[in-house]
Amino acid sequence: MRFYYAPMEGITLYPLRNIHREVFGEWVDRYFTPFLTASHTHHFKNREKSDVLPEKNTALDGTLKRIVPQIMAANSENFIWAAEEMKKLGYNEVNLNLGCPAPTVVNRHKGAGLLAEPEYLDRMLCEIFDAVSDKEIFPEISLKTRLGFSDPGEADRLMKIYAAYPVKELIIHARVREDYYAGAPRLDAFKEAVSAYRTAGGKADISYNGNIDSAASFEKMKNELGIGSSCGEEQRAEVYSVMIGRGLLSDPSLVRQLKGGSALLPDELRSYLSRLYDAYAGYIPEDRNVIFKMLEHWAYLHVHFKDSDRCLKQIRKSRSRAEYHAAVNNIFAECEFV
Ligand SMILES: Cc1cc2nc3c(=O)[nH]c(=O)nc-3n(C[C@H](O)[C@H](O)[C@H](O)COP(=O)(O)O)c2cc1C
Repeated sequence: MRFYYAPMEGITLYPLRNIHREVFGEWVDRYFTPFLTASHTHHFKNREKSDVLPEKNTALDGTLKRIVPQIMAANSENFIWAAEEMKKLGYNEVNLNLGCPAPTVVNRHKGAGLLAEPEYLDRMLCEIFDAVSDKEIFPEISLKTRLGFSDPGEADRLMKIYAAYPVKELIIHARVREDYYAGAPRLDAFKEAVSAYRTAGGKADISYNGNIDSAASFEKMKNELGIGSSCGEEQRAEVYSVMIGRGLLSDPSLVRQLKGGSALLPDELRSYLSRLYDAYAGYIPEDRNVIFKMLEHWAYLHVHFKDSDRCLKQIRKSRSRAEYHAAVNNIFAECEFV
């Protein structure tokens, strides 16, 4: 099974991707960028463009084959423009965002908003894949979708639409838009969606996404989907890859563990945090902003420190590089690592 680092807006940018790779090695098979907006002006924002420049993505083989830029687009024309830009930069695959639940995105007929308009989505994909067949050099396209907008029953129709196109990989976040990121993933609906996709002739590899944050949750997902069990072929959802987001923020060594390697060590977490700070310092001005960025990570990483409320407060209150590093040294010195 393959493992992907999920796209997360404002978080899985090149500083994180590079440092994660440098510290934790080659366990993650692919890193997905946060979405780049393909706007009607056919210009990316500077920050978005800089995230995909090959010279910024230093830790990933220099070939970019392990990075997949994700595109958010409201229509085929903008998507095709953005995909061609990615190809020019050397990327072989782009991913279409069909899952972002934010109201500002949904109301502009983008992200999960497209799931509520299946006829429009079908036309958009038809135009995109027509363009692909016309252009030999076009990158491959994967989709990141949810099971529906408000009801997983919508998956049947969506899967029939996806099955009609030569999609490289279909990543399914096992929730509907109205779930946002909360509640248990809908594993039965995921299974039904995969089955509907195959029945309709869909050939893409299937990727599972949702709440894999430990060896136990990975086993649970596999058991519930019948992967690796002795149940009949027809009851088994095939999963080619697993995409992990928040689980990797909480435990950056998670994929290594899921592949049979060792658990997170305090020293490697220290090294990761220190290098991440330096990478962000080269990316954003002012200590305070770098610290805010690090706090996004601490919101997930604090689980490794027992009884850490007081030490965490000190990290949150830090306003300079020196204060921040002193507070981090303190949490490692004072709290039991778990
Ligand atoms: C802060 C945050 C930002 C996200 N940004 C994106 C994004 O840019 N594109 C995308 O497709 N999904 C985005 N997601 C969704 C994740 O890729 C993933 O589908 C979701 O977190 C569920 O997986 P997990 O349970 O492994 O975290 C985001 C999620 C979070 C929490």
